[in-house]
Amino acid sequence: MRNDIQSVLFSEEQLAGIVQTIGKQISEDYKDKNLLMVSVLKGSVVFMADLMRAITIPCSIDFMSVSSYGSGTKTSGVVKIIKDLDINLKGYDLLVVEDILDSGLTLSYILELLQSRSPKSIKVCTLFDKPDRRTAHIKADYAGTIVPDEFIVGYGLDYDEKYRNLPFVGILKPEVYEEADRKVSSDSSKE
Ligand code: PRP
Repeated sequence: MRNDIQSVLFSEEQLAGIVQTIGKQISEDYKDKNLLMVSVLKGSVVFMADLMRAITIPCSIDFMSVSSYGSGTKTSGVVKIIKDLDINLKGYDLLVVEDILDSGLTLSYILELLQSRSPKSIKVCTLFDKPDRRTAHIKADYAGTIVPDEFIVGYGLDYDEKYRNLPFVGILKPEVYEEADRKVSSDSSKE
């Protein structure tokens, strides 16, 4: 798995530092509020697990799952709800937790949907932000760090469902996805 990584972008220690900083800020900002953290599966699960433990005030958690990418590397623009929230949002100060904000299409859709359920407030926290790729009009209230427009994996982020369990974040070697893309197009030309 590590052989497929071109270079490490954020070490385990660097990620822990980023998460502690955001956790401290959120603990301060939400100390008189009714915090509900909503993790958007699956990419945010590692960040969510660490962030909630870096938060020192009481909070509730819930999960939702949407699909936007399929197995490739490009946004399709299609967002489908796979698993909805269990908790009724009334009275909660909602914090949507994402691993990466890219085109913003996924989050735009999610925010519109959650807003219609009348939470007390709604904000967005993303570990990684790729502002250069934004097409939707959206900004994170909390962003761990800006990342370059490279294909990054690890710490929850995947390529074709792999690499999520790497404890660091690295840039995937282009030949890994170029090889897979070549295979897909040669398979489809045989049909
Ligand atoms: C990733 C990520 C965000 C979304 C961001 O999810 O977790 O939800 O893409 O991209 P966007 O800003 O261009 O919409 P993905 O669909 O890859 O699913 P996953 O979290 O299960 O890996």
